[in-house]
Amino acid sequence: MNQNTVCIVGLGYVGFPLACLCAKKGFKVSGFDLDAEKVDLINKGKSPIKDSYVEENLAAGKIKATTDAKTSLNLADIAIVCVPTPAIDSKPDLSFVKAACKELAPFVSKGELVIIESTIYPGTVEEIVLPILEKGSGLKAGKDFFLGHCPERIDPGNKKFTIEKIPRVLACLSAKGNAKAKKFYNSLIDAEITVLASVKSAEAVKVVENTFRDINIAYVNELAKSFDKMGIDLSEVIKGASTKPFGFMPFYPGPGVGGHCIAQDPYYLIERARQSGFKHSFLALAREINNSMPSYVVLLVEGLLQKAKIDLKNAKISVLGLSYKPEIDDVRESPALKIASLLKPKVAKLTLFDPFVLEKSNVSSLDLALKDCDCIVLATNHRVFLEKLLPSFLKSKSVKAVLDARNALDKQGIEREGILYKGIGR
Ligand SMILES: NC(=O)c1ccc[n+]([C@@H]2O[C@H](COP(=O)([O-])OP(=O)(O)OC[C@H]3O[C@@H](n4cnc5c(N)ncnc54)[C@H](O)[C@@H]3O)[C@@H](O)[C@H]2O)c1
Repeated sequence: MNQNTVCIVGLGYVGFPLACLCAKKGFKVSGFDLDAEKVDLINKGKSPIKDSYVEENLAAGKIKATTDAKTSLNLADIAIVCVPTPAIDSKPDLSFVKAACKELAPFVSKGELVIIESTIYPGTVEEIVLPILEKGSGLKAGKDFFLGHCPERIDPGNKKFTIEKIPRVLACLSAKGNAKAKKFYNSLIDAEITVLASVKSAEAVKVVENTFRDINIAYVNELAKSFDKMGIDLSEVIKGASTKPFGFMPFYPGPGVGGHCIAQDPYYLIERARQSGFKHSFLALAREINNSMPSYVVLLVEGLLQKAKIDLKNAKISVLGLSYKPEIDDVRESPALKIASLLKPKVAKLTLFDPFVLEKSNVSSLDLALKDCDCIVLATNHRVFLEKLLPSFLKSKSVKAVLDARNALDKQGIEREGILYKGIGR
């Protein structure tokens, strides 16, 4: 049993799995969140999120959640901030981080370790978090208490790289803080922990990683549009290029980029660099390309319907999958929802179905989603869709056209059944 008390501030997709992990490793865990419903669920032993890691580990330890800052934050030897960091109109919104730090500050005690896990831009800990915590606590960061950043890399739904298996980087303001933080994360995680020389470097790591994904996805999305014009199957090209054992890494085109990370974090880097006098044109262009993909999907749907001789305004379309990636229920920034809102005013009937997101679906099963449907748009490649959307099944449902925005279905088989097929660059 670990005698230290860990307090997690923000019990969402990042904070709650972390709370479960800390409890599993024997820490006393308290959780602070403003959302009374989440707190209530957690105190009933239930998860506020759908997550395979949480399902397997929820029972491993007890988490005491509260909406009252004092009862949880007062007890903490280690406080970890996991609140949202969205981008509003392409600009970073650090208001949640500021508010959480204001709540935390009066309860920071001597020797406490405070770690920000939320994704932030370089400079946030020293320029924003530190003044709030020092003012509210009357203590000195780096001397009286320890402060640092350890970017969260969790990949919800990833069963191979669970929170316990992902290597981490961290940096605190002082060597003593680094040692304390490294010891803490070592006790949680079965993977390498790298301590960086500065907090700013640790802050930059996460935004750089996610921007790398964003620009590479934008590259293949742009290739998909150009190869569609040239009549070249991009998936074949990527298959060929991937045989090179060095200097190439496959990325795949799709309906756009969603989620709370890749679709937002580049804006944190762009804005921070702008404040420092540098314009990231390349990163901004990648954002623009990825943001254009839902409209491109709609354009492809229109082309398919034209080929099928179905008037757009009479068309019955089913969008399958609403979450931003497979096997999860998270719809934040999901391209599927953007596709749906673009299609809605144009067509006769729009059906939405996602078995993970029933509250945003307007039918309750795949069978109902395919009933009386001219064209399906596969927006999220949930396993259950890939298993069921076989050519013979689509034929039996009299589907006339398939827009496979994830390039995940059997193109040749679908076409053999006399159904029109279009992928992204495929
Ligand atoms: N979701 C991911 O896959 C992922 C992965 C890595 C990093 N991150 C980063 O982790 C951070 C958290 O993301 P998330 O997906 O867990 O968000 P989330 O919205 O799922 O959870 C955040 C929680 O914080 C709570 N909260 C908001 N303000 C608060 C406050 N002032 N005090 C206490 N609680 C507060 C919310 O009620 C919510 O429950 C973000 O910075 C995100 O970029 C997310």
